[in-house]
Amino acid sequence: MTSPTIDGKAETANVLRMRGVSKTFGAVAALKNVDLDVNRGEVLALVGDNGAGKSTLIKILSGVFSSDSGTIYIDGKERAITSPADARSAGIATVYQDLALCDNLTVVNNLFLGQEISPANLDETAMEVKSWELLKQLSAKIPSVQVAIASLSGGQRQTVAIARSLLGEPSLILLDEPTAALGVAQTAEVLNLIERLRDNGLAVIMITHNMVDVRAVSDRIAVLRLGQNNGVFLTKDVSNSDLVASITGATDNEVTRRESRVHQDQEG
Ligand SMILES: Nc1ncnc2c1ncn2[C@@H]1O[C@H](COP(=O)(O)OP(=O)(O)OP(=O)(O)O)[C@@H](O)[C@H]1O
Ligand SMILES: [Mg+2]
Repeated sequence: MTSPTIDGKAETANVLRMRGVSKTFGAVAALKNVDLDVNRGEVLALVGDNGAGKSTLIKILSGVFSSDSGTIYIDGKERAITSPADARSAGIATVYQDLALCDNLTVVNNLFLGQEISPANLDETAMEVKSWELLKQLSAKIPSVQVAIASLSGGQRQTVAIARSLLGEPSLILLDEPTAALGVAQTAEVLNLIERLRDNGLAVIMITHNMVDVRAVSDRIAVLRLGQNNGVFLTKDVSNSDLVASITGATDNEVTRRESRVHQDQEG
């Protein structure tokens, strides 16, 4: 798929293009001149050590923070994102780590919280039908849309939060540590779900510290280090040691030392 780009040349359409995005908090430069591209039908893993700027970048895209400088293009068009409403209308949906679900409400009520189909006269049937449609589209394993969120597993809750973010029909979905609190089976379920989002043509950015998840589901990996770009890799081509080196800025570090210890133990 091609479309005219910033410099007028036809090129693969990026859903997202960030150019030279910077953000400071007082004396802290959280992001310095960061560039990032994500294509439709692609999962980009955004990785980096604690404090690298990942959440700041996500919050700029979701309109929680405004950047100090830089430009954001969505589908090739420059967009000013200064509020969550701007982000939504640009087609960007965010699932935060705390999920922001209400434990005591049902699945269907959580899905439509704040956007009930007919506010004056809640259309329960329409919401229930739409809920099943959404969950079916995600092949989600939810027993019933009338159960309370409190009775669902972590993976099921993550699924509901992702389903809710799809109601606005976004083209870009941002997931902050979607598997951080999950067990093995639930993680697999959420990774399957992320693949389904990609197969439906969405662009996905997934923040994670888990290299197994990165390997399992991402197409490309963008590394931030101390608020700056520090490499973009094709997941299938990059070695673990190169990735760790890019994240930490050194080839000699705890993880690589451990790796060589393990190799020595295996050989000896
Ligand atoms: N609201 C804020 N006020 C002041 N400083 C902030 C704020 N948000 C982030 N920072 C600083 O900006 C830098 C980047 O933080 P950010 O939360 O983006 O990192 P991160 O990559 O998400 O880290 P983690 O993996 O620990 O979540 C850090 O130095 C952090 O202390
Ligand atoms: Mg963070």
